[in-house]
Amino acid sequence: MPVRVLPSLLSADFAHLADECARCEAAGASVLHLDVMDAHFVPNLTFGPFIVEALRRSTRLHLDVHLMMTDPLRYVDDFRAAGADAITIHVEAVGPRTMAQAIERVRATGAQVGLALNPDTDPELWFPHFAQVDLVMFMTVYPGFGGQSFIPQVRQRIRATRQAFPHLPIQVDGGINRQTIPLVVADGADRLVCGNAFFKDADPAAFLRWAESIAP
Ligand code: DX5
Ligand code: ZN
Repeated sequence: MPVRVLPSLLSADFAHLADECARCEAAGASVLHLDVMDAHFVPNLTFGPFIVEALRRSTRLHLDVHLMMTDPLRYVDDFRAAGADAITIHVEAVGPRTMAQAIERVRATGAQVGLALNPDTDPELWFPHFAQVDLVMFMTVYPGFGGQSFIPQVRQRIRATRQAFPHLPIQVDGGINRQTIPLVVADGADRLVCGNAFFKDADPAAFLRWAESIAP
């Protein structure tokens, strides 16, 4: 599977969202990563469906919505109606007993379904559900803020998952930059969420080309 960079809007200039979307498109991105935080699942607060709907009117980019929320299922219809193409929920927010129903619930919106795992979460416990989703996302920082340092202990979890699921899209999120991209791509990640590494680069297009040309 080709490696793809997903710019994370959290590092963009929120006073100029339409321009920032255009900058992502011009740099060659096809997917925009959107971080929704509820000030409960994580200690930070960002935005809801209202902003997603405004972005939907501003760009043709595929919108990849990452729900860092304690009760994500309550809002999935709203995010889908706002224009989310993919919706990722955290396994820690759902729990094992109702995971299968939760996946079905997101699937029923019509969006692609993703499962996110925090750095300390063992993916093998969730392997039975991975065949039911469109992507799995490893948090390589504790979620809540951009600009944190990559947690190397997650690498073995990525490798184990890639070994068990050769064709599953594996996304990584947090501290993904020029230093860590060669490592996670070697481990089997193929979708790279980049906040600071993309938006703060002097030449985001060159950064994206470089990252997407790395062979696993
Ligand atoms: C962190 C968010 C990330 C964040 C990544 O909780 O989920 O998507 O924007 O930012 P960087 O790439 O700067 O670590
Ligand atoms: Zn994210």
